[in-house]
Amino acid sequence: MTRLALAAPAPVTALRRELARAFRDGGLDTPDLDARVLIGHALGLDHAGLVAASERTLDAEEHARVMAMAARHLAGEPVARITGVKEFWGLPLALAPAVLVPRPDTETVVEAALAAVDADGPRDRALRIADIGTGSGALLLALLSELPAASGTGTDVSVAALGVARHNAACLGLAFRAGFVACDVAAALTGPFDLIVSNPPYVPSPDLPTLPPEVRDHDPWLALDGGGDGLETYRAIAREAPRLLAPRGHLVVELGAGQADRVGALMAAEGLVVGTPVRIDLAGIARALHIRRRDASVGLHARPGKKALGLSPNTH
Ligand SMILES: C[S@@+](CC[C@H](N)C(=O)[O-])C[C@H]1O[C@@H](n2cnc3c(N)ncnc32)[C@H](O)[C@@H]1O
Repeated sequence: MTRLALAAPAPVTALRRELARAFRDGGLDTPDLDARVLIGHALGLDHAGLVAASERTLDAEEHARVMAMAARHLAGEPVARITGVKEFWGLPLALAPAVLVPRPDTETVVEAALAAVDADGPRDRALRIADIGTGSGALLLALLSELPAASGTGTDVSVAALGVARHNAACLGLAFRAGFVACDVAAALTGPFDLIVSNPPYVPSPDLPTLPPEVRDHDPWLALDGGGDGLETYRAIAREAPRLLAPRGHLVVELGAGQADRVGALMAAEGLVVGTPVRIDLAGIARALHIRRRDASVGLHARPGKKALGLSPNTH
């Protein structure tokens, strides 16, 4: 077992090096970053503050606090769970046990959604957004931060998660444009939406016990469990999307590794048009799929079909 050897009192720099060494020896992925974030959190300092305090010697209580956090991390607890905060799309998001830690991969969905919005016109138009399975509110809040006249609704089956999302919206000054509702998938939504995003649970149930411990033991299974084949929530989204999307609306979903073709096929089976290329994340995995309503190509001025006539504006 990896040991932390440095006794108090120790200067910040020495402690950072010692923690990074222990994390590296413990096989953790980002030892230097983790050491910096944990010490900064324990001392209430951001990156600049930590650099400025590099020669400062911690008192015994601060030292004990850092060591306790480091021990939890060495035991497998992710840094974000220890600090209770994770940055997503440059936004600090509070966490709680009920929400997934937002992943950098999910920023691919934000990129794809913004690319779709940009292709249609300026960002300052009054867009209506839905985020299905909002968790911490990561996707909805990232999009609202980029789209100044947009408003949106996040759904989740977890009432506790919705509380976290509401808190994050308020802290980011976005609460007046963000609503949150407890429901299964999109049952409480009426639309129409110009943009629907979702990072649904997509791990096949039988794979859950084999996930890496830092995921299996610390992320809520409700956020991970995609049913027998991992695709159950995609099927539900595909069934709901035709009724919820505005005539030129976009749907962007995150994908689990290797799911692009199967998710594309089940969206097409509901009459939706699947776009290409699929957006690739930093690890080279097809991560975000862009989907539209079939009538998108004929535009807003074409003769509307029955579904388009049935849509009522601003009801979300
Ligand atoms: C993979 S997490 C995504 C969280 C957040 N959107 C993100 O990207 O970090 C999936 C979320 O969907 C929620 N969820 C699971 N099943 C659901 C369902 N049937 N309807 C609505 N939300 C659901 C979970 O509680 C969880 O918050």
